[in-house]
Amino acid sequence: MRKALIAGNWKMHGSKQQAEALVQALVAANLPQVIDVVVCPSFLHLALVHELIRNTNINLGAQNLYPGSQGAYTGEVAADMLVDIGCKYVLVGHSERRILLNETLDIVAKKFKAAVDAGLMPILCIGETEQERAQQQTEAVIQQQLQSVIDFAGIEAFKKAVLAYEPVWAIGTGLTATPAQAQQVHALIRQQLAQNNVAIGETIRILYGGSMKPENAQALLSMQDIDGGLIGGASLKADQFLSICTAALQKNTAKQKSA
Ligand code: PGA
Repeated sequence: MRKALIAGNWKMHGSKQQAEALVQALVAANLPQVIDVVVCPSFLHLALVHELIRNTNINLGAQNLYPGSQGAYTGEVAADMLVDIGCKYVLVGHSERRILLNETLDIVAKKFKAAVDAGLMPILCIGETEQERAQQQTEAVIQQQLQSVIDFAGIEAFKKAVLAYEPVWAIGTGLTATPAQAQQVHALIRQQLAQNNVAIGETIRILYGGSMKPENAQALLSMQDIDGGLIGGASLKADQFLSICTAALQKNTAKQKSA
């Protein structure tokens, strides 16, 4: 059974005080271990959040890393530094970085491998733009974004990774893929991984991201190949994030009953 995972991507938001208040509210909810919960604050707030989640079920993730070991790379952060500060996860290939910061397929693949090599669990984000969907290129784009990482890092690296399908047109727009639209792409992603390694295709967790919120979380999470969510906007409000976690808990409970 795939354990549900809900990850909050705080992006470039918040002050020290806000980060503290948000994480304290999550800790107070005492989330059960049956799901995995991850928060990804900015680099600046990682150490603070790490202290506050000590001895809780909440895990720490970073939003980015540099694909190399320590050295003369001004302004960058290496994977082993993230491990040292307490991170278990790291986002890789988020569309905001691909589009706004020109991260190429090659850079994304290198970051993914650097994370796995350092013992971090990358959450590899892939997804098509509105224009690509309109031109019926969704499948080709997803396949290319995934295959370039498989080719560079090797399929075995996916044993310690999470995937996130994030249609670019749904991120921060309030537009969400319908559960059926998302399920269709999740199934494709799983199939592509299974073609390389059947067990990995079966066990890897594939999150949905793009305006997931309390109102649509349950419907999305009820789909067979959607194993959790990568949450942007709604992760900044403790009550909303917790309500999405509750929807994931229900999914896990339902799965346990049917297993
Ligand atoms: P959103 O962001 O939930 O605000 O759409 C998701 C993401 O970018 O990971």
